[in-house]
Amino acid sequence: MSTLNSSPAIVGRVPRHIAIIMDGNGRWASRRMLPRVAGHVRGVDAVRASVEACLDRGVRYLTLFAFSSENWRRPAEEVGVLMSLFLSVLEREIERLDRARVRLRVIGDLKAFDPKLRNRIVEAEARTARHHRLTLTICANYGGRWDISQATRRLLDACPELARPGAAIEPSDFEPFLALAYAPEPDLFIRTGGEQRISNFLLWQLAYTELYFSQAFWPDFDGVALDQAIASYRSRERRFGRTSEQVRQGLEQSPVSEALLAGANPSEPYATRADLVI
Ligand code: FPP
Repeated sequence: MSTLNSSPAIVGRVPRHIAIIMDGNGRWASRRMLPRVAGHVRGVDAVRASVEACLDRGVRYLTLFAFSSENWRRPAEEVGVLMSLFLSVLEREIERLDRARVRLRVIGDLKAFDPKLRNRIVEAEARTARHHRLTLTICANYGGRWDISQATRRLLDACPELARPGAAIEPSDFEPFLALAYAPEPDLFIRTGGEQRISNFLLWQLAYTELYFSQAFWPDFDGVALDQAIASYRSRERRFGRTSEQVRQGLEQSPVSEALLAGANPSEPYATRADLVI
């Protein structure tokens, strides 16, 4: 396994934020007559590989759906293995992530986890908090509906006047309370394993994200597969509600217009768009 310190080799445009549903671990294992949990173990290697690939390509945010609110319904043994894997990943990988200047965040309803795991999460986040090269977010006991509910609760606690009948609530009032408020919306969503569903992932944040579905099972998803997803992303025209003509006119008039077609959010100040600085 190579180290996370490989030097950037960035060619062309990269999505600033990639969000992934890592699906197909169980099927990867079943095809090899192995227990399902063997797929999760190999899935950790694929997580490491995807972090390395994102560092190499200049992706700034990588968000991984590791355990959904609904995954508690799985057999107890499988849930237990997943919890042990989270713990061992936090213990084993944090040194490497820190060295590679990766900031680790874990989002979701963490109250349900064992206190030992919660403590490791707090320690790992604190240790890497100063880094900005890549923000790696692990979604654990996360669900998009949970996120919207908890953000609504926190918004109303912070601004009780918004609970008045008829009070207008703008998206900009609400968004700071979402669990992923520190990151821009994902540019590219990837789901491995052949299914074509969002499965209660980032329901609010995926509104304008480009969707990409891969047949590869997660343990087989590597840098080459990531490059295919990025190539598909680059071929898309992101219009954000505009017409194609408007986007193209913008291209002719603006020195930064290439970024517009590439997918940078036009409502954002140009200076902060990763497409332009990378
Ligand atoms: C979905 O595959 C995968 C999961 C529910 C767990 C993902 C966990 C890992 C990749 C390992 C731990 C990762 C971190 C970041 C600590 P599935 O089991 O639903 O596969 P199937 O659809 O083939 O049954």
